[in-house]
Amino acid sequence: MTEQTLFIVKPDAVSRNLTGKILARFERKGFKILKLKMFTFTQEQAENFYGVHKDKPFFGDLVSFITSGSVVAAVMQGNNAIATTRIMVGATKSFEAAPGSIRGDFGLGFTDNIIHASDSQESFEHESRVAFE
Ligand code: CMP
Repeated sequence: MTEQTLFIVKPDAVSRNLTGKILARFERKGFKILKLKMFTFTQEQAENFYGVHKDKPFFGDLVSFITSGSVVAAVMQGNNAIATTRIMVGATKSFEAAPGSIRGDFGLGFTDNIIHASDSQESFEHESRVAFE
């Protein structure tokens, strides 16, 4: 089933010059990149983007990290895009993510975990609206 999803290359990965390597993995897998944008989240945009976590104890750290530098947002299309992208991204804690996944191969962080990807159609719609507004 052809689907679209969104991912964000986070500030840690952009500053480590990993953007190209990450985009290449999705292209190599067969996904088509439909939109691509480099920008820095404003505080308001970040709070809206991560609104689902607003009552969590880590919300402040999350917003402060995602606004700390440039990110690269992409909308991408392909078969089973949402679930397949999540598999390619790997576990949230990079230090536990499987080798072969993006977090497993490129990082050790938790808040600074390289990449974000939408986890549902609903979050894709919300997140792509915020990132490409
Ligand atoms: P991400 O996929 O961007 O979705 C929400 C982010 O919140 C997640 O990656 C982590 O970076 C961060 N996160 C989730 N749970 C925690 C936690 N318990 N402590 C700190 N950060 C967290």
